[in-house]
Amino acid sequence: MKSGQADRAERRLRKTRVIAVSSGKGGVGKTLVSLGLGMVLANMKKDVLLVDADLGTANVNVVLGIPVEYNLWDVVKGRTDVDNAIMAIEDHLDLLPGVSGVYEATFWRMRDTEKLWRELDAVLSRYDYAIIDTGSGIGNTVVQFCLAADEVIVVFTPEATSITDAYALIKTLHKEGYEGNIYALENMVRKTQSDLVLAVSLKSMVQRFFNREIEVLGAIPFDPQISKQVRYQELGKYLKGSDEFMFNMRTVVKNLLKSGEDMGSYEPSFWSKLRNFLGRTMRG
Ligand SMILES: Nc1ncnc2c1ncn2[C@@H]1O[C@H](COP(=O)(O)OP(=O)(O)OP(=O)(O)O)[C@@H](O)[C@H]1O
Ligand SMILES: [Mg+2]
Repeated sequence: MKSGQADRAERRLRKTRVIAVSSGKGGVGKTLVSLGLGMVLANMKKDVLLVDADLGTANVNVVLGIPVEYNLWDVVKGRTDVDNAIMAIEDHLDLLPGVSGVYEATFWRMRDTEKLWRELDAVLSRYDYAIIDTGSGIGNTVVQFCLAADEVIVVFTPEATSITDAYALIKTLHKEGYEGNIYALENMVRKTQSDLVLAVSLKSMVQRFFNREIEVLGAIPFDPQISKQVRYQELGKYLKGSDEFMFNMRTVVKNLLKSGEDMGSYEPSFWSKLRNFLGRTMRG
C-alpha cells in the first residue's frame, strides 16, 4: 500500500490534483458528487478527468447513458492504452470508464493499481484535476486508490451506518499513514439540525481519537428529483438547472480549492447559511 504514497509524492512535482471520492457505505452519492465536482470544475474551464474506479459495479457510464468501448480493466490488462479508453463527456470533462460485471476484476491486485497509475501518469499532465470515483468500504482496492490520491473526499449520509462506515474509512486511511487532506461531505441531508450536527460529530470524533483535522466541505440536500434522472443528458441538464445543487457544489469546490482561485460570483449556499446557523461549532 505504501507505493501509492510514493506515486503521490512523485506527482506533487506536477500540478494535476488527484482527488479520490470515496465512502464507507455504498449508495451515498459518490458518483453524483464526482460528476458534480467534474461539472463545476469543467465549467471553470479546468480540464478534468473522471476515473470510474468502482471495480466490479462501475456505473458512471450507465449514468451517462453512453456506449463504452474500452474501460479501465482493458487498460490494466493491456488490451488498449489509456488514451484510447478515455472518452469526452463534455467540454473540459473526460471519463475513463470503469469495469462492471467482470468477476476477475474483483481480484484486483497491487500490481493492477501500479499499472493503472503508470498509464494514468502518461495522461495526467493534460488535466488540472483527476477525480477518482472509488468503490465503497475499507477493502484493499478502495484504500489503495485513496492512498494514491492527493486528497480524499469521504461522502456520507445522515444515517448511523453511513457515518460509522465513514469513520472506519478515515480511521483506516489514518492508520495507513495517509498524509493527504481528508475531507468529509454530507449528502442527502434533510434540512434539520440533527442531520447537520452529524458532520460536526464526525469531525470531532476524528479530532478526538486521531488528533487529526478533517474539513467538512459542505452538505448536499436530499432532492427526490435527482434519483429520477436516469441518463446523463437528463441528470446533467437537471443538475445544471438546479440552483440549489449548483450553489452547493460550487461551495464544495470553493472550499476544496481554498487557494482563492477565481470562482466568479455565487449566491450563499445552503451550506454557508447552515454554517452561520450552527455558528462557531462548525469552524476550526
Ligand atoms: N442528494 C441526493 N438527493 C437525492 N438522491 C440522491 C442524492 N444523491 C444521490 N442520490 C441518489 O442515490 C443513489 C446513489 O447515488 P450514487 O450512485 O451517486 O451513490 P454511490 O455512492 O456512487 O453508489 P455506489 O456505492 O453504488 O457506487 C442514486 O439513485 C442517486 O440518484
Ligand atoms: Mg458510484
